This record gives sequence, structure tokens and C-alpha cells, in this order.
Amino acid sequence: MGIQITPSILNADFAALGAEVARIPSADMVHVDVMDNHFVPNLTFGPTMVEALSRATDLPLDAHLMIAEPDRHAPAYVEAGATSVTFHVEAAAAPVRLAREIRAAGGRASMALRPATPVEPYEDMLGELDMLLLMTVEPGFGGQKFLDLVVPKIRRARALLDRHGLELLLQVDGGVSLETIERCAEAGADTFVAGSAVYSAEDPDAMVNALREKAAAVLPAGEQA
Ligand code: DX5
Ligand code: ZN
Repeated sequence: MGIQITPSILNADFAALGAEVARIPSADMVHVDVMDNHFVPNLTFGPTMVEALSRATDLPLDAHLMIAEPDRHAPAYVEAGATSVTFHVEAAAAPVRLAREIRAAGGRASMALRPATPVEPYEDMLGELDMLLLMTVEPGFGGQKFLDLVVPKIRRARALLDRHGLELLLQVDGGVSLETIERCAEAGADTFVAGSAVYSAEDPDAMVNALREKAAAVLPAGEQA
């Protein structure tokens, strides 16, 4: 599968999002952080904005729903044009049913875990997912410090995926930068959200490629992007 870089537009200029997305043509997906002021203490986009973005770019959209009641709201993001829809397991009433509904609507189903949420209880449902997101900060804001305490969980999640022969993407999100990406890749992550690292760079697209190269360099030969 190789390395996927999925920049977050949370730190982009919200008054010019179409132009901001056009600055990252090398991205594999555009990560859209949906926040509702309930699940997290911040408020961003809804499905209307996702729909507008999907018209503004050919890149696939990776919607990260940091919202309460994802069971009710997630399918609308597939309809709005998101290729991948991530819900938080801490907020989902019925994660298996929800993953199936996202897939039935034509989306890729993805489940996120906050830093203190263990992966082991979900071992038997990993096959229902196209991506697993391990948060490396507490969700809610860009620009936070990477939490090293999540690295052992990345390693354990990779071991679970390998043990079951599952191909889903293993994504990390929060504080990912040229400083921290190698330790995530080394632990087994293959898909990387980077918000402030990309949009605070003078050349965001060059940063996307620099992050990809750094992550690919720690993969065993033959598995590089
Ligand atoms: C945090 C969001 C992240 C955030 C990443 O709640 O889910 O996607 O935008 O931003 P950085 O890379 O700055 O931590
Ligand atoms: Zn995110």
C-alpha cells in the first residue's frame, strides 16, 4: 500500500479553502476535521462544507468526525462526497452497524480511538473497517504536542492487523511532523495526518513529500511508497 500523507486543513486559511487545498497536489487524501462543540470543545465544518470541498478538488476527502452521535450523522458525509468517513468509537452507539452503514452508502469506513482508548476490545471488528485512526493528541485542536505514550498502541495495533492478515490503513493524527513521523512509521503506521506541519510550511506540497520520504525511509525495503 505504501505511505499515505493526508494533510489536515484545520490550520489552513478557512476563508480560502479551495485555494488552500490546491496547494497540496501531492497529498493522498485531504483530511477534513469535523468538530461539533460537544464531542470536542471546538466547532468547524459540516456536510455542506464537505460537499463544497469535494467540488473544489479531485483529491479524495478523509472526513474525521469528532462529533457526538456519529450513528445519526456519519452517512451524510458519504453523501456529501467524502471518500472515507472516520467516527470515534467513544461516541458511537453501535460501531459495527455504523461501519456497515458507511460502507453500504459507498464510503470507506474508519474508526478513531482517543489516546487513552485501548485497541484490544475492538480486535474482532477490525475486519469491518477500511482504516483505523489512532489519535496522537487529544482531539479538538491543531498544533498540539505529539503524545509519545500512543506509540506502543500503534505497535500493538499493527501486530493485531498482521495477525489477522488485515489490509486496513493504520492512520495517526496529531502532532505529526518531520520530528515525529519516523517513530510512528517505525511502530507500524502507514497513513499520516499532518496539519500545522504542512500549513505552516512555506511550501506545503514540498512538506507533504518530505514527510512521505521520511516515513518511507523506515519501512523495510520492498514496502516503500
Ligand atoms: C485534532 C485533529 C487533527 C489536527 C492535526 O483534533 O483531529 O487532524 O488538525 O493537526 P496537527 O498536525 O497540527 O496536530
Ligand atoms: Zn483529524
